[in-house]
Amino acid sequence: MQNFTFHNPTEIIFGKHTIREIGAKASYFGDRVLLVYGQGSIKTNGVYSQVIESLEKAGLYVTEFGGVKPNPILSHLEEGVLLAKRKKIGLIVAVGGGSVLDEAKAIAAGTRTDGEVWDFFVNKATIQDAMPLLAVLTLSATGSEMNPTAVVTNEVHQKKFEISSPLLFPKTSILDPTTLYSVPNNYTAYSAVDTISHVIEGYFTGDDPSTPIQDRLVEGIVKSTMESTEICLRDPENYQGRATMMWAATLALNGLPVAGIGEFNFPNHMIEHSLSAIYDIPHGAGLSIVIPGWMKFSVGDSPEKFAQFAHRIFGMATNSTEKDAEAGIDALKAWFEKIGSPVSLSDVNIPESDIEKIAENATMLANKWEMNDYTKDVIIQVLRLCC
Ligand code: NZQ
Ligand code: ZN
Repeated sequence: MQNFTFHNPTEIIFGKHTIREIGAKASYFGDRVLLVYGQGSIKTNGVYSQVIESLEKAGLYVTEFGGVKPNPILSHLEEGVLLAKRKKIGLIVAVGGGSVLDEAKAIAAGTRTDGEVWDFFVNKATIQDAMPLLAVLTLSATGSEMNPTAVVTNEVHQKKFEISSPLLFPKTSILDPTTLYSVPNNYTAYSAVDTISHVIEGYFTGDDPSTPIQDRLVEGIVKSTMESTEICLRDPENYQGRATMMWAATLALNGLPVAGIGEFNFPNHMIEHSLSAIYDIPHGAGLSIVIPGWMKFSVGDSPEKFAQFAHRIFGMATNSTEKDAEAGIDALKAWFEKIGSPVSLSDVNIPESDIEKIAENATMLANKWEMNDYTKDVIIQVLRLCC
């Protein structure tokens, strides 16, 4: 295990009937709130009225900013920044899934600069200040509720880039599993894929060979996510299933599973962000297309680790490391298919002839993330295994 610093300042309030606490928590940080939300789900599932009631009870002055789209876009983010500045907003309450939280984080940073908010995404400027942000989560997948990252697409240039700053950790995130009851089965599946992806990126790419506690944490998150996903797909209002999915997603990308694993990278995300940037497909759907191909491409680099995954997640136990490793990849792909997430480019009607274009787009992020091994040719090879 390698040296590490783990610090996560977000307060998590977890459980039934917890949304009523948002007003009191928010009131610590000011009285002029920007309420950021998406395209309407919170108005049909009752979350909006619970949030408004709590904010009003705490005496807060609320300006609404709805309409955040899945895979949030820069032009809408810029509207939010202008609105927040005009209304002299002091804090943000974000109510929704990862897209809402991410755009809200970017508004929090964008409001405290005179420059262009996109400059933060392309490393032309560094975030020096941000408004306080609190969240009520309604879709558990990205971990945004307990991490310092926000992903936004510059839709003109098809660049899906992220910002990350300690200033962007939510102050408080409220996680009420009952908010997930209304998530449709397709997004339940995509969420599961995203959670699993967040832990396996570090598991397979981390450079320290001795990380037993981190490995078992990852394997526990993967197993629990798989089990609870199957429960929720059968029974969307199963509280224990939703609660497990919700907490697993938060733990998967809050910095804990990667603490001590040394250098690691996020190749599946690097490639997926191009799929959702170009074709606007859900992030989790893009990941279930990329992951099996990337695993096949990478298995030769660490067959023992892939065999360990196969053994501990799927019970593979032949006396061949290579066979187990391959069987584990096939089993994960089959599970993605079983839950209804796409597993090939053709499943989402992306023709093989687009691979060059996708790879060209992905090299922008590979460069930003300094993933020098991932040249355009290498990305093309991975994508060919995703057809
Ligand atoms: O727009 P609304 O009406 O809210 O509908 C949303 C949206 O259509 C709907 N939804 C959310 N909660 C619901 C619900 N429908 C019914 N009941 C509910 N309780 O679900 C749809 C998808 O929502 P979205 O927020 O886009 O999904 P997700 O949470 O998966 O977020 C995806 C975004 O996060 C980024 C992704 O790239 C993508 O842009 N990521 C952010 C990360 C981070 N901040 O750390 C890391 C991730 O790897 C990821 O890149
Ligand atoms: Zn992700």
